[in-house]
Parts: sequence; C-alpha cells; structure tokens
Amino acid sequence: AAPHRADLVVFGGTGDLAMRKLIPALYHCDRDGLLAPETRIIAMSRGGLADSDFRGKVDAEVRGAVPVEDPQVWARFLGRLHHITVDVSAEGGHAAHPGWGELAALLSGHEDRDRIFYLASPPMTFGPFCRDARAAGVVTPRSRVVLEKPIGRDLLSAQRINDEVGEIFAEPQTYRIDHYLGKETVQNLLVLRFANAFLEPVWNSLWIDHVQISVTETVGTPGRRGYYDHAGALRDMVQNHLLQLLCLVAMEPPARNDRESIRDEKVKVLQALRPISGTEADRFTVRGQYTEGPGMPGYLDEPASTPPTAASRRVETFAAIRAEVRNWRWAGVPFYLRTGKRLPTRRSEIVVQFKDVPHSIFPGGSPNRLVLRLQPSEGIHLHLMAKEPGTGEVALRPVPLSLDFASAFASRVPDAYERLLLDVMAGNPTLFMRRDEVEAAWRWIDPILATWEASGMPPEPYPAGSAGPASAHELLARSGRAWHEEE
Ligand code: BG6
Repeated sequence: AAPHRADLVVFGGTGDLAMRKLIPALYHCDRDGLLAPETRIIAMSRGGLADSDFRGKVDAEVRGAVPVEDPQVWARFLGRLHHITVDVSAEGGHAAHPGWGELAALLSGHEDRDRIFYLASPPMTFGPFCRDARAAGVVTPRSRVVLEKPIGRDLLSAQRINDEVGEIFAEPQTYRIDHYLGKETVQNLLVLRFANAFLEPVWNSLWIDHVQISVTETVGTPGRRGYYDHAGALRDMVQNHLLQLLCLVAMEPPARNDRESIRDEKVKVLQALRPISGTEADRFTVRGQYTEGPGMPGYLDEPASTPPTAASRRVETFAAIRAEVRNWRWAGVPFYLRTGKRLPTRRSEIVVQFKDVPHSIFPGGSPNRLVLRLQPSEGIHLHLMAKEPGTGEVALRPVPLSLDFASAFASRVPDAYERLLLDVMAGNPTLFMRRDEVEAAWRWIDPILATWEASGMPPEPYPAGSAGPASAHELLARSGRAWHEEE
C-alpha cells in the first residue's frame, strides 16, 4: 500500500489513550513504512507544551514501550510530532482560544492531504470540538473525524452528540472507533465464519447450546475514577466491545465484504436483542463492585484525585447479562456476556458451546466448544473429544485443535489501533460503528441502566482478585451451565 499522506490532529493528545495506544500505534505504522514523509501528528491539549516538550515527553514515556530498533526511524517519528495548546474552558468559547489560530496556520497550505481529527477526549467535548474546528476554518472536504467510545452515556446523549458532530461531518466522514473490531481474532471470526463451509450448517440453535462472551481484566481503575464513576462496566465495555463481538458471532452472512453490508447485518442483530428491563433485569443481569482483596484496594479506595461520592458507590465494575437474539437462527440460545475489573485473569474470549451428542455410547464426554481467544494470546481453539491413550476402558478427554496466530503466522500481530488508524487514513469505515449501530446498542442498554438506577441497591460486592459476584455464577448455574474458566 502507498504510504499515507495525512495530518492527524489528536485532541486529548497527551492523555492516557494517546500516550499508551495511539502514539505507539502510529510509530509502528511509521516503522513499517506506512506514513509518507510529510505526514504529521498534531497533539492538542491544555498542556502548554512546545513541540520540543511534547517530543521529549513522547521520547521519555513511549520509547521504552515500543521496540526502537533504529534510532533514525525514532528520530524521524519524533520529527512528525507537534503540540498545540487549547483550553476547552477558555472564556468566550473555545474558538476564541489562540490555539485554534495556531492550528489553522499549521494546516494551511496542506488542504490536499487527508486531515483527520481524532477525538480522544470525553464525549461531551465532541460537539464543541467539531464546532470550534469549523469556526477556525480547519475542516476541509478531505477531513474525517474519529470518535472514541463511549459515544454518550445513554441513547439521548448519543443522539445529541451524533447530531452535533453530524452538523459538521457527514456520516461517511465519521469514524466511531471500537478498538475490539481491530483485533486480529475479531476480524478472523468473520473469515472463520464466512470463508469456511463447515461451520455455517451448525451455526444455529439446532447445534449450539449457548455462547459466552467474556472480557475479564486484572487491572482496577486507579486514577480513572473521574471517568469511571459515571461510566461503569455496562457503558465502558458492554455497550460497545461486548455487543460488537456478539454481533459478529450472531450476524447473518453479508452478501459483500463492504462498508455497508457488514454493518447492515450487525444492526439487525442489535435490533433483534430481546429487551431486558424491570424484573427481567433482576433475573438476567448481575452487577458487582470490587472490594478490598489480597494486596489490592477496593474500588472506593483506589487512588483518585477526589474522594468517593454516591455515584462511586453505585457504579458497577463488573457486569454479567444473559442476552437473547430473537430471530430464526438464534431463538432460545442464551448469549452470556461478562466483563469486570480486578478479576483473577486477563482474558477476552468468545466461547461457542455446542450441544451434547444426541446419544452417547461412551461415559464421561463433554460437548464441543469453539473458543476464539482475543487475549492474552490471540488464537482459535476447537475442543474435540478424543480417546485417552491406553488399553483399558475407553476414557474420553477434550483436546483442543488449536490455531495460535503468533506461531502459525511468524509475523507480529499488529495492535488493534494500528489497523484502525490505517483504515481511517485509507478512508475505509467498515470496522467502525455506524450511527444506527451505536444508537441501537444504547436502545438495548438503556432499560437495563434504568432498572439498575431505579433499584436503589448498590452493586454486589466481590473481593478484588476473586471470580466476581456469586450471582454471576448462578446466572449460568441455574440452567446447568458454567463460565469457561480453563487456561
Ligand atoms: C477500554 C475500556 O475501551 O477497553 C477500558 O475503557 C478497558 O476500561 C479496555 O480496560 C480494555 O481493552 P483491551 O484491549 O486491553 O482488552
């Protein structure tokens, strides 16, 4: 592919996401020769940094985290970096801030390049940023905007943000990022499903008992309370990452691999989700919050700049849901979703559990399972029953037929953000969420949130480092199922 000629403006450019994900991803793109010599990365923040300060910061904080084999490539990368100070709380509206004039001057004369505004900032800044950018005259026909998740905190706020952004950027210029869609295994799920013939005949309620989509994390939320108190696991992870995975598992085969066909099919899945509210929310959802565990503080005692509030006590750091897709293919198949912080292992996976054999002639078998692992090591594992070697009675044991990406393809697995940033530069929105998708997801999430909020009950406590609230186990145990926990 030809290297990309672009000006990338990152709002929130010195924040956690930029420093941990975006800058390293862009460095990798540069190292791989995918950025044209003139491509620039312009961070905007309140930081008051000169270009040289920002380059120094990236040198100090990022260099150690990426493999720098060639110091010249690193120096070239640092040379692409610029910093512009804008104060979003400046008197007289943002556009009045001198930073906008500086940005306009820096960009002027480069209207022929792709211009990308990456908003790595809280969702309430999206609308104001876009308006200011237009007022500053920096939005060109070749401009695109990238919006980080979550878009809003419920359907209404999401619609408002989409409207505000939509006044400046048309839908095809708007890239709503969900970095899970850039993960190798997630893209491979589409290939697995739609480039192989053997799965499709069994990919339905006749053969599949249930699906588990589980993203467990060992990290807590130190230093993130300001964001997390008003987000929680449902908004931070389920509304976007987990529902996107569910869509890819459940969608019908699209007719084409193009930007609209795949997204059209995903929306249909979201629209088919059975609504959960009221007493059903009590039965089919679980929310928890971690308390102190061995060597780990509870959520309320995590280091933060402000003391915990009523919102901190209410927010869930763990969520589990029994979802259902009401259509011909999936009727009656539970989709169990689970995510949480401070759990014993960091693992993201989709587990498709098949039904048991109709009649078993051997003792001790267990149903087949297809495990699509996104983390820690990306791979696909199909658990088949096999005979334990030996001369005595036939003994069965599940053995995995495994595809480990790192060893099957002796190449580096790129980070999700690399792939997605390159897609934005190439103008390919297939792996980004369309407005109707985001809104359909909120439409399903809202009644769950409303029920939780109305209940007045705090989330169920679980000790940090434990397997989560007991009710999450019961959610499956009452139908004789269990979360897939093996290594
Ligand atoms: C982010 C969430 O979107 O995804 C974080 O805001 C979470 O809370 C992260 O930790 C998980 O991403 P990954 O790629 O590490 O699974």
